[in-house]
Formats: sequence, C-alpha cells, structure tokens
Amino acid sequence: MPTIKTEALSHIYGQGTPFESHAINNISLEIPQGQFVGLIGHTGSGKSTFIQHLNGLLQPESGHVYFDGVDINSSKQLRRNARFQVGLVFQYPEHQLFEETLYKDLAFGPRNMKLSKDEIDERVREAARFAGLSEELFSKSPLELSGGQKRRAAIAGVIAMRPQVLVLDEPTAGLDPAGRNDILENIRAYHKASGATVILVSHSMDELAQIAQRLIVFDEGSIVMDGPPEKVFLHSEKLCEIGLGVPLASEIALELQKLGLNIPEGCYTVSSLRDAILSLRREAGVC
Ligand SMILES: Nc1ncnc2c1ncn2[C@@H]1O[C@H](COP(=O)(O)OP(=O)(O)OP(=O)(O)O)[C@@H](O)[C@H]1O
Ligand SMILES: [Mg+2]
Repeated sequence: MPTIKTEALSHIYGQGTPFESHAINNISLEIPQGQFVGLIGHTGSGKSTFIQHLNGLLQPESGHVYFDGVDINSSKQLRRNARFQVGLVFQYPEHQLFEETLYKDLAFGPRNMKLSKDEIDERVREAARFAGLSEELFSKSPLELSGGQKRRAAIAGVIAMRPQVLVLDEPTAGLDPAGRNDILENIRAYHKASGATVILVSHSMDELAQIAQRLIVFDEGSIVMDGPPEKVFLHSEKLCEIGLGVPLASEIALELQKLGLNIPEGCYTVSSLRDAILSLRREAGVC
C-alpha cells in the first residue's frame, strides 16, 4: 500500500476575489513508503501549496489526500494525526522556530505527541545529531542562531517527531555550497537510517540529481514530468521551455556525446561523468 496518495487534488487561493489563484490543478500521484522524491518547478508553480496538503495544513478545494489508504481530511482527528505522520519543514525556517531555547523548540513536537520526558529527551538529542546541531546550542534562543543553524533547527524539530514522511521545502536555500552539501548529507543519513519517505523541494537540478530516486516536475500547478532522474533529464528541451535546466554534468555529457564520444546514458552527476571519462581514457590507453 502506498504511504501517500493524492487524487485529483486542486487548490484555489482567494476564491471569488479579484486575487483568485488556481495554485494546483488536478494532481494525482502515489509515493510508496521509503522513496526519496525530488520536487522541482519554477517559482509560483505550486510546490509549497502541494506539500502543505500532505499533512493537512491546507485543505483541498477538491480531491483527496490519503495516508496509508485513509483520507486525512475525513475527520479532525485524522488531520491531526497527519501532522505527526507527515513532518513538514517550512520554506522559511523562521516560521517554525518560536520557543525561548533551541532545546524547547526541538522538544515542541514530541511534547505535543504527549511522550514521556525521557523519550522527548532522547528524540531531541537524536534529531540534533541527525541535523548536525551541537548540544552546546541547546540553551540558546533560536533567534541567536545563524541562518544555517536555523535551517538545521527547523529540520531537527520535525525529525524529533520521527515522521514516517519527511517533507522539506527548499531546505538549502540561501546556504553556501559547504552548508548545502552538509544538510543534504544529513537528510540522506536520516533517510537511510529511518526508512522514512522523503520529499525534497528544490530549485536546483544539480542538488536533486545527487540525491533523489524520483523527480516530479511542476509547471503552473500541474505535474508535467514524473520519473527517475535519468529519464527526466533526457527531456532537456522541455525542461528548458518551462524555465528549468538539466544538471551541468548532464549538459556536458550531452555535448561530449555530440562530439562522438561514447558517454553512456544516465550520466547526470559529476561523479558518474568523471567515471565515464576515466573509462574512456583507459580504453584509449591514456592514464
Ligand atoms: N497564501 C497565498 N495566498 C494567495 N496566493 C498564494 C498564496 N500562496 C501561494 N499563492 C499563489 O499560488 C501559486 C503557487 O504558489 P506556491 O507558493 O505554491 O509556489 P512554489 O512553487 O512553492 O513557488 P516558490 O518556488 O517561489 O516557493 C502562486 O501563483 C502564488 O502566487
Ligand atoms: Mg515554495
């Protein structure tokens, strides 16, 4: 049974007003337990609106969201359960941090779940470890943290609930390359250790190429592509048409193929392209 299923999901903001906006239209998809999904689309394509339906934060204009076969909007209690099962890290971490200390912030979710003090403590420490936050920061106010630490805190606060599905809305935006890689590694480690489904929203094809098993491409509130990265990147023209590109490694691989070099399909990360070039050099007898 799939963990998450949406059926003809649509959402309209400000219906009946001059500001009416059809943010997502008729979205149907299934995401099986444990999959690592990358969600991409240019600004305003409906990514944040879509994911906020997955934990019941937004309710659909029409359509359904199912978690393990149960419609999460069929009762108040089920919608509340979805908040704990599907953990959502917001696009702007400041919207998520509001307690006096970092420790209290990380404990907020588990406390709401009515867990014991010991269990809360264990979860807070584990979540901080996964998000790469030192325990020395526990007594600080979240307001005193750096931009990167705030991102990590927002991620840790959600991980502390040990959600079956972790949804992250542009968790690396505004970070330098080292900080970005670090956070991606933390998310990868969490996915591997927990077996949770992960849905990562990003503007960067290079980032998603590194980490996602499946890519879902949004354009103007609809899904226009859905498949494994190596298949999606074959449609570079279509991706360019909707204002997205392919990863740089994929672009270079394509150019090398045009030059007649035998670069295999599916080279879309720097490391796979490097391996392909090294193998060509070996074949040519160049060390
Ligand atoms: N609270 C809101 N009220 C009214 N319209 C909104 C609201 N939030 C989003 N919209 C509109 O809905 C559409 C989809 O927005 P959404 O934020 O879901 O896109 P996004 O893909 O997450 O964009 P970004 O990449 O910039 O984060 C846009 O046209 C946006 O202007
Ligand atoms: Mg967004």
